[in-house]
Amino acid sequence: MKPIRKAVFPVAGLGTRFLPATKAMPKEMLAVVDRPVIQYVVDEAREAGIEHLIFVTGRNKSVIEDHFDIQAELEATLRERGKLEQLTILAEDLPKPGSTSFTRQQTPLGLGHAVWCARELVGDEPFAVLLPDMIMQGRPGCLTQMMTGYETFGGNVIAVEDAEPEHIHRYGVVGIGEQTGNLFEITGMVEKPSREQAPSNTIISGRYILQPEIFDILSDQGTGAGGEIQLTDAMITLAQTQRFTGVRYSGHFFDCGSKVGFLAANVAFALERPDIAPHFRAELQRLTRLSPDPS
Ligand code: G1P
Repeated sequence: MKPIRKAVFPVAGLGTRFLPATKAMPKEMLAVVDRPVIQYVVDEAREAGIEHLIFVTGRNKSVIEDHFDIQAELEATLRERGKLEQLTILAEDLPKPGSTSFTRQQTPLGLGHAVWCARELVGDEPFAVLLPDMIMQGRPGCLTQMMTGYETFGGNVIAVEDAEPEHIHRYGVVGIGEQTGNLFEITGMVEKPSREQAPSNTIISGRYILQPEIFDILSDQGTGAGGEIQLTDAMITLAQTQRFTGVRYSGHFFDCGSKVGFLAANVAFALERPDIAPHFRAELQRLTRLSPDPS
């Protein structure tokens, strides 16, 4: 069984839901407490043993590349001022030299197309995909938990969770076959189904381990839900010849692509920080007592 060494981060999205904040800044660089959203996702990949980080970017995203590079002037100033703690944080967050690649999705044709844009960088080996909107709280990280599913069954692995029936139409939904602990065989997939069409209330959470045959399928993949080239549709074809395993991970995801999810992530991650939590908790309690309901 080939190891999973590479991870693809599709970061080309325009972030229209966060305008005007994302007019000049990528949505992936919005901060949850004091770290950009994309840093949490990259940390999850590195924790799972990923050696090469492949970013599929678009216009106005070059600041992501800068974020994962050394900032020599800043570091010199921090050193001069004796700010060693900040220097350590920057060093820990930095990927190894030569372990990042950037390519562009020239046209926003959908998630399937974005992943396909990484085909030359991934090559002929299984790889992970991490959608940067979703950040996860919990240890071990979601991708690390998925590696157990991969070691057990090989093939393709998808992280899943249960959702409220009224939210299901926003996601990919899976059909559930034979279960072994928190793993199960996926018997079907549908992208953004209506409540009636959905095979279950178990949704795709935005973490994938995929075999490289997905790229050939994506080459010919037509448009699906929302008029976009959907990764889920290509996975449905691949599932005709290869196994797909669902992993019910433990932990909690925040959908930072939505305003409420992003705000909730800020609260949740601040509350687990010993340097911030005591004051922040008190401030939250004061605010919830004082704030009038705007509706
Ligand atoms: C994508 C996937 C969908 C998945 C979701 C998770 O949808 O296509 O299957 O459930 O991410 O966030 P998108 O959020 O790009 O519409």
